[in-house]
Amino acid sequence: MQVSMDLTQFLQQLDELTANAVSTFEAAPDQEALEQARIEFLGAKKGQLKATQKLFGAVGKEDRPTAGQRFNETKQAIEAALEQAQQRLQAGNDSGSQENQQFDPTLPGEALQLGHLHPITQTIEELKDIMGRLGFSVADGPEIEDVWHNFEALNIPAAHPARDPIDNFYLGVAAAGTAKKSNELLLRSQTSTVQIRVMENTEPPIRIISLGRVYRPDTADATHYPMFHQMEGLLVDHQVTMADLKSVLRLFASSYLGEDVHIRFRPSFFPFTEPSVEVDYLWNDQWIEFGGAGMVDPNVLTAVGYDPSQVNGFAFGLGVERLCMRRHGITDIREFYKNDIRFLHQF
Ligand code: FA5
Repeated sequence: MQVSMDLTQFLQQLDELTANAVSTFEAAPDQEALEQARIEFLGAKKGQLKATQKLFGAVGKEDRPTAGQRFNETKQAIEAALEQAQQRLQAGNDSGSQENQQFDPTLPGEALQLGHLHPITQTIEELKDIMGRLGFSVADGPEIEDVWHNFEALNIPAAHPARDPIDNFYLGVAAAGTAKKSNELLLRSQTSTVQIRVMENTEPPIRIISLGRVYRPDTADATHYPMFHQMEGLLVDHQVTMADLKSVLRLFASSYLGEDVHIRFRPSFFPFTEPSVEVDYLWNDQWIEFGGAGMVDPNVLTAVGYDPSQVNGFAFGLGVERLCMRRHGITDIREFYKNDIRFLHQF
């Protein structure tokens, strides 16, 4: 049975509904509360607006056009109030969160994470410093080399196994005229190339070091990596002896690795030094090689235009990673190049 309702009552209900909805939307503190309010007033099945619409049939026929028009206006007003409330909450999320948060001056500050140099770069700087105090200045050379500087001038002839393509990163042939004596290029496999470049352009006496990257297709393991760094040293003068070489390397090792480090010299062979030695340090009861050295071979002196009867010298090439590992107790060279920030942060 339909209860009849006069227009005034119906309009009064609409006004009350609008006032209620607007004040509830305005008071909603967050999106969740606003959604609850939306369902309460505008819900398609059980919302208050829907319930009021059902009363429409009880209004007298002659009043229905007015009632219908006011009902539509009410619906629009409630929807507009909802939208306004949504915008208010959205704006609060965008900017208000910081403004509204109270600043607490008693909280501890957030420490800034400062970047720093890679451990190998730090090591290189320290090695330059130590060798600088021993009178060695720094020379530089290119990482892309020609076979003259990487092999031939270093007394490593064409048939030598060290030149095998399997043991080197050859890059092809340089454009005519760019390389001096041979136009075949490779990523340098040793910093001994810089010995040649310096001697080609400088008269003795010479006392230099050169630090940089070298490349070999070695399989990575705990002590090998296909790209690593070497520190080359070269001293050319009159009457240089093997004792000078050993003194410099001992002084260097005790400065960088500590007074208590044990090093030893083992007889070895390099085509560009005679006699030659390999240099090891003792670590955890094991001898580990960290470099090669020797007296500069007379053939090398001749190749750069020196007279071996007038001058002689010594040279050495040390693995920078191996030195840094011993100094900091790092047992795997691969740690340097994983770029794990937890490892790098320790230096
Ligand atoms: C040389 O490279 C010679 N040029 C050294 C030299 C210079 C001898 C001057 C005489 C005079 P060798 O291949 O042994 O030598 O390498 C020297 C050092 O580089 C090694 O003792 C080791 O510390 C380091 N090294 C060699 N291969 C690797 C590798 N794959 N990864 C990390 N370090 C390496």
